[in-house]
Amino acid sequence: MILHIHLSILFSYITFFHLISITLAQSENYIIRMNLSAMPKPFTNHHTWYQSTLSSALQNSQFTTTTNNLNSLISSKFIYTYTHVINGFSANLSPKEHELLKTSPGYISSIPDLPVKLDTTYSPQFLGLNPNKGAWHDSNFGNDVIVGLIDTGVWPESDSFKDHGMTEIPSKWKGQCENSIHFKKSLCNKKLIGAKFFNKGLLAQNPNASLGLNSTRDTEGHGTHTSSTAAGSRVDKASFFGYAAGTASGIASNSRVAMYKAIWVDGRLSSDIIAAIDAAISDGVDVLSLSFGINDVSLYEDPVAIATFAAMEKGVFVTTSAGNEGPAHRTIHNGTPWVITVAAGTMNRDFQGTLTLGNGSKIVGLSLYIGKFPSNNFPIVFMGSCDNVRELKKVKNKIVVCEDKNGTSVYDQLRNLVEAKSFGGVLISNVSDASFTQNFAFIVVNPINGEIVKAYIKSHNYNSKKSSSIANLSFKKTVFGTKPAPSVDSYSSRGPSKSCPFVLKPDITAPGTSILAAWPSNVLVSYLGTKEAFSSFNMISGTSMACPHVAGIAALLKGAHRDWSPAAIRSAIMTTSDIFDNTKEHIKDIDDNKDATPLALGAGHVNPNRALDPGLVYDVGVQDYVNLLCALNFTQQNITAITGSSFNDCSKPSLDLNYPSFIAFFNGGNSSKTLHEFHRTVTNVGEGKTIYTASITPTKGFSVSVIPNKLVFHEKNEKLSFKLRIEVERMAKLKKVSFGYLSWMDVKHVVRSPIVVTTMKMNS
Ligand SMILES: *[C@@H]1O[C@H](CO)[C@@H](O)[C@H](O)[C@H]1NC(C)=O
Ligand SMILES: *[C@@H]1O[C@H](CO)[C@@H](O)[C@H](O)[C@H]1NC(C)=O
Ligand SMILES: *[C@@H]1O[C@H](CO)[C@@H](O)[C@H](O)[C@H]1NC(C)=O
Ligand SMILES: *[C@@H]1O[C@H](CO)[C@@H](O)[C@H](O)[C@H]1NC(C)=O
Ligand SMILES: *[C@@H]1O[C@H](CO)[C@@H](O)[C@H](O)[C@H]1NC(C)=O
Ligand SMILES: *[C@@H]1O[C@H](CO)[C@@H](O)[C@H](O)[C@H]1NC(C)=O
Ligand SMILES: *[C@@H]1O[C@H](CO)[C@@H](O)[C@H](O)[C@H]1NC(C)=O
Ligand SMILES: *[C@@H]1O[C@H](CO)[C@@H](O)[C@H](O)[C@H]1NC(C)=O
Ligand SMILES: *[C@@H]1O[C@H](CO)[C@@H](O)[C@H](O)[C@H]1NC(C)=O
Ligand SMILES: *[C@@H]1O[C@H](CO)[C@@H](O)[C@H](O)[C@H]1NC(C)=O
Repeated sequence: MILHIHLSILFSYITFFHLISITLAQSENYIIRMNLSAMPKPFTNHHTWYQSTLSSALQNSQFTTTTNNLNSLISSKFIYTYTHVINGFSANLSPKEHELLKTSPGYISSIPDLPVKLDTTYSPQFLGLNPNKGAWHDSNFGNDVIVGLIDTGVWPESDSFKDHGMTEIPSKWKGQCENSIHFKKSLCNKKLIGAKFFNKGLLAQNPNASLGLNSTRDTEGHGTHTSSTAAGSRVDKASFFGYAAGTASGIASNSRVAMYKAIWVDGRLSSDIIAAIDAAISDGVDVLSLSFGINDVSLYEDPVAIATFAAMEKGVFVTTSAGNEGPAHRTIHNGTPWVITVAAGTMNRDFQGTLTLGNGSKIVGLSLYIGKFPSNNFPIVFMGSCDNVRELKKVKNKIVVCEDKNGTSVYDQLRNLVEAKSFGGVLISNVSDASFTQNFAFIVVNPINGEIVKAYIKSHNYNSKKSSSIANLSFKKTVFGTKPAPSVDSYSSRGPSKSCPFVLKPDITAPGTSILAAWPSNVLVSYLGTKEAFSSFNMISGTSMACPHVAGIAALLKGAHRDWSPAAIRSAIMTTSDIFDNTKEHIKDIDDNKDATPLALGAGHVNPNRALDPGLVYDVGVQDYVNLLCALNFTQQNITAITGSSFNDCSKPSLDLNYPSFIAFFNGGNSSKTLHEFHRTVTNVGEGKTIYTASITPTKGFSVSVIPNKLVFHEKNEKLSFKLRIEVERMAKLKKVSFGYLSWMDVKHVVRSPIVVTTMKMNS
């Protein structure tokens, strides 16, 4: 598996086999937390202490070696010193070295360096943002707020990073742009104010890893897209080959962007990512956007959860993506109580092509074909499920109609048509994502319209040599107002969170499907036939795209409310979100076309203007999170791995975090427990004197009550508490997931929280 080029040079005097058996094959990266209060006096700084600790461990684990060799050995094994995310360092160690390090004075804990999963304009208007009022206006478009992104780098020349009309860089900013290959620091400006890259962990693990470019420059596109989505400047005449044409703008178009590149072509290691978060914290970012996560690890072994705990303590708002592994339950990552976890939704926009049949009927279908297509009429033929390439080759220069039936997927059909060098086609299918049509002149028509197309062809003797069925195709139409919208897309990962099921996740839905944003002009966006296609904007989908929308919104809220804590901002975003779509029905789940449960949707679809004035917030302090970790029955050592504190006060353990949402497990529908009680405290961030009354949307099978059901506030920032009781009405016939809502209402505000009651087992 992993070979060590540094080591093999260093120890070239040892026989090759010896080398393999001692260190080579099994060296791994570890992230090691140290106890800074245990640092012996002679050391003046933590960095030299960590290096010396590693040095002692290496000396004890190896045969005797010269000082010279030891120094270069350390420099090949020591990866990063961390200052903010944890007190500690990362190193590449053999199992034996790792064991010896554990006996070092001051050692607290270590975790393996896990790889993360990357979760790969019109959206501001869709979110209701307006220059003259609301969140854009009140925050001056997020002016002076700094949004940091850990991603694949940035393409500084993009129009989305022009700084026209921007004020000076905020004086609190301590970061900078670093010179790197093809990235002079002079490329930064008042919009793009930070650019750093981190790849030592990746290279320690795999010295031959391809970096793409050893530079903050984006060679993949993802980071350029997410950063321009969060805080890109306005760009007129943006489009994706004619689709989605218009002005593209980041959500917080006056906020600053700092890019920390830690995601590389050949790897995405936590050691690099938390080094990037460490730098972002010390540079002074206000908001961090993380479009990646690690599945199926406990909170105390999840480097992203650990690093974001430190960020939260320092007041940095952290937004993360839920993942793209939906629609099954428990597929979510970043189900971490101290971040906001973002699900992906659709917008009210479709990209279309039109098939005009010879008799004049126009059939509209989905398409994102980026090329040109002749506008004249061509013969049109029906080729069933298009699974026979030989037959397809016989119908060159005809419009081919295929049906998505019986197992031949649209992707297989596409492949067959490309292989047969077909000319253009119509796919009859229910698929809702037509992005696969980019490089081939296809439109996707639904089965009802498909019947019309088939009937037309049939009535014009398509089997005979004298067939007279003809049609033409046109592309590049963008339509708005499609209904219903928004919906939760099926790829978006679903809760409950495995790492902490007691906190309802995801938290919120934001636009994630077919998002147009900036792209490096030399990074492939698509193919046209076999030709590469490039564009300075690209349209892609994923919770990766939803996450920076919320980063932008958090930047607007920070711009308008400097004193709000990360939990207050999260609460404002959640309790003011929308649960109705543009048909005035509950937002749907694309997967089953039923009402989306909060395990898919979170509290709702984000509404930035309303978030500006939430009325009440559910705030959470650091000790509240510690109380939760204590109640999870983590060992003190495990809690220290997260908090970094030597002493974690577990005198008041509680699973009942002061969160703006509720989830109750009635295990297997079979527990003897028939009552679940929650305690919450809300803070009045509205005007002062006001009275809120509780309103409950029923949860099927349960009776939900609030005590008291009236909260009388006398002043701003006053805190009042209440209890929410969920009682089983009939244990016999419970649904797997039931949900309803609690809303606190005064004359001006609706403060809504989702309530989920599930018979799912808590851990399975
Ligand atoms: C890394 O590259 C070197 C030189 O090309 C080669 O000898 C070595 O086997 C490679 N190691 C791995 C792990 O691929
Ligand atoms: C990448 O560049 C940095 C300086 O910008 C340098 O220190 C490092 O050695 C380079 N890494 C590789 C693999 O070239
Ligand atoms: C497309 O087909 C329709 C119906 O046959 C016809 O009226 C129209 O002129 C055609 N368009 C072109 C550009 O040939
Ligand atoms: C679908 O395929 C299965 C076997 O592959 C076959 O038994 C069935 O008849 C097919 N159905 C249709 C509608 O073609
Ligand atoms: C398409 O959707 C309709 C309605 O949901 C369904 O009846 C039909 O079976 C679906 N067809 C295919 C090919 O999946
Ligand atoms: C064209 O033919 C289709 C299939 O027979 C039919 O449904 C449609 O109504 C026809 N259109 C016109 C304008 O006659
Ligand atoms: C923690 O341990 C206590 C005592 O054993 C138990 O009652 C409780 O259910 C446990 N909590 C969790 C979250 O497992
Ligand atoms: C978690 O606690 C267990 C039991 O004390 C311990 O073995 C493990 O190393 C701890 N892990 C971390 C990361 O603290
Ligand atoms: C860290 O070291 C201090 C001083 O030696 C000690 O009091 C404390 O318990 C240690 N903390 C941990 C988590 O080991
Ligand atoms: C509930 O428990 C009973 C008896 O223990 C068992 O027979 C039944 O299958 C359980 N039901 C569920 C939904 O787990």
